[in-house]
Amino acid sequence: MSRFHISGGNALHGDVAVKGAKNAALKLMVATLLAPGEHRLDNVPGIIDVEIMRQVLEHVGATTRRENGSLVVDVPESPRPEAPIELVRKMRASILVLGALLARCGEARVALPGGDDFGSRPIDMHLEGLKAFGAQFELVHGELVATAPDGLEGAEVMLEFPSVGATENLILAAVLAKGTSVIGNAAREPELADMASLLNKMGAKIEGAGTSTITVRGVPNLEPAHHRVVPDRLEAGTYAVAAAITGGTVRVVDCIPEHLRMELRKLEATGCEITHGDDWFQVTGPARPSPVDFATLPYPGFHTDMHPQMVALLSVCEGVSVVTENIYAARFRYIGELNRMGADITTDGQHIVVRGVETLSSCPVDGTDIRAGAALVCAALRAEGETVVTEVHHIDRGYTDFVENLASLGADIERIEESD
Ligand code: EPU
Repeated sequence: MSRFHISGGNALHGDVAVKGAKNAALKLMVATLLAPGEHRLDNVPGIIDVEIMRQVLEHVGATTRRENGSLVVDVPESPRPEAPIELVRKMRASILVLGALLARCGEARVALPGGDDFGSRPIDMHLEGLKAFGAQFELVHGELVATAPDGLEGAEVMLEFPSVGATENLILAAVLAKGTSVIGNAAREPELADMASLLNKMGAKIEGAGTSTITVRGVPNLEPAHHRVVPDRLEAGTYAVAAAITGGTVRVVDCIPEHLRMELRKLEATGCEITHGDDWFQVTGPARPSPVDFATLPYPGFHTDMHPQMVALLSVCEGVSVVTENIYAARFRYIGELNRMGADITTDGQHIVVRGVETLSSCPVDGTDIRAGAALVCAALRAEGETVVTEVHHIDRGYTDFVENLASLGADIERIEESD
């Protein structure tokens, strides 16, 4: 167990490079299960979630090895079609093996993920869609037992909500199904489009990934492939907020600003100066941000995983901001921690009212999930005194070299191991 000690007040300056996206790398790793043989993924981030997904792949019989920034996955001819509770509990994204294993093996046993700090997080849309493809499900002692007695057959599925995970599970199941599938009201996230791009390199016939209607023409088999993970827009966006809240100037490189259009637009509205090229952007923060209202929405709307960091920035704005969280029912635990640092934030249902304060002051805070932790670190970079952020293993799930990168930009931040 580690904690971060952060002394606020230093404006950040310099360049920082972002790594491959967590939420793409995990899906690409699952997608490899669809073809036996050796796949190579470049720009895979060095984060804990990738290590957990390696354990999932190894549990089903694949071998994996790291080669510098790349991950090589060797997929067997006959994978073991199961993901146990220990791994699904550690990481919800393991549920994506359901579609892939059903497609590959005609059956799958995957522990049912429970709720988490964001609310109940059901998987009803995943299951309904897979049923339309011919899958049958039974819940046996907390484990979903899935079968496709007659094989999977393409169908038209209209999602009730553009769920990222449900769209991905359906694509993974559809690529080896008989016939054509059409997924309507599909999620449009760049990470999902990245997974479709790998699958097409493997020989799949997917059209429309990145739009609301995705068409998949089933093929009998796929080949292993080589792919580079798309840059992490959430890591890039978090450094943008860190620059903004400290009133510094940071150039974020190896990223795709196009994937952060809404978030950068809202940062500009707080008074940040932003310039960009195709694969970099630069943020200069204002002395004190202006208030801004925003609502989280599926891509290309404002990303829910940038909401806590943005609220940290708005906590010191000159005025009142209103934020609406539309994706998760219960993403508010970090707010109590920000208030302990002197912020003035209240919630009413899905709405958050942020009354900007002039200064934040340090105190011990818990980062209860990846983005809550990142938001508290951003707040600590501005707060007076030394803030101690605990539960940082959550941050380690999503950010490579977070402390080192912030320190290289001039932050006074140190990781302390609990036993020290
Ligand atoms: N939902 C349902 N039923 C379903 C599926 C989803 O009700 O069958 C609800 C969820 O409970 C949630 C909403 O729909 O309230 C959105 O869920 P979605 O399926 O879109 O999200 P996800 O695939 O579970 C991914 C990311 C999350 C990110 C969301 C939203 C991964 C591994 N996770 O989750 O990332 O917040 O999309 O963009 O890709 C993070 O990286 O910190 C993180 C939590």
